[in-house]
Amino acid sequence: MDIRAESAGDRDAIYHLTEIAFAPMPFSAGNEADCINRLRADGDLTLSLVAVEAGELVGHIAFSPVKLNGLADNWYGLGPVSALPGRQRTGIGSALIEHGLDQIRALGAHGCILIGDPAYYSRFGFRADGRVTYRDLPSELVQWLAFGSQTPSGVLTFSPGLE
Ligand SMILES: CC(C)(COP(=O)(O)OP(=O)(O)OC[C@H]1O[C@@H](n2cnc3c(N)ncnc32)[C@H](O)[C@@H]1OP(=O)(O)O)[C@@H](O)C(=O)NCCC(=O)NCCS
Repeated sequence: MDIRAESAGDRDAIYHLTEIAFAPMPFSAGNEADCINRLRADGDLTLSLVAVEAGELVGHIAFSPVKLNGLADNWYGLGPVSALPGRQRTGIGSALIEHGLDQIRALGAHGCILIGDPAYYSRFGFRADGRVTYRDLPSELVQWLAFGSQTPSGVLTFSPGLE
């Protein structure tokens, strides 16, 4: 499996992959594929990685800037992240998350924030402490990973393409 930055020729495949990966998920808003296109169009797709195996797109992850209390301070949102149905639970998602975190860190980010299942994201070091809030979501779903000594707090907003 090769993990690399997206190229223009990947865009339709990323859209399709994201659609079919999220379609069965009960929490899906049904707009995750459109969100990626909006982030890209707005210039907010800071990092977009694809996982490719034998010429087939089998995974994708997006990172975009977030704000805390309305201020951008080098924190990034992780997601959407997708692995091809039928290939899930074979390490694709983990590889994309680990590569993505390494690259965002290398860009000088303070860290990453996401909304997701703690049972999955805790293995990468994400944690929730209730000090970052997002709408009326339960605090345990709002998780962050700090790369340095700065820890996040406040009201989280994602880039407009994700809101
Ligand atoms: C979530 C997703 C990206 C993970 O990628 P993956 O390649 O399937 O995951 P990996 O193979 O790296 O990791 C597998 C592990 O993750 C766990 N896992 C996968 N999805 C999970 C989820 N939604 N919640 C909790 N655990 C999950 C599996 O139980 C497995 O754990 P184990 O190794 O202890 O058995 C993928 O399942 C997917 O595309 N899901 C649909 C879209 C989605 O839900 N995206 C994330 C929204 S927050």
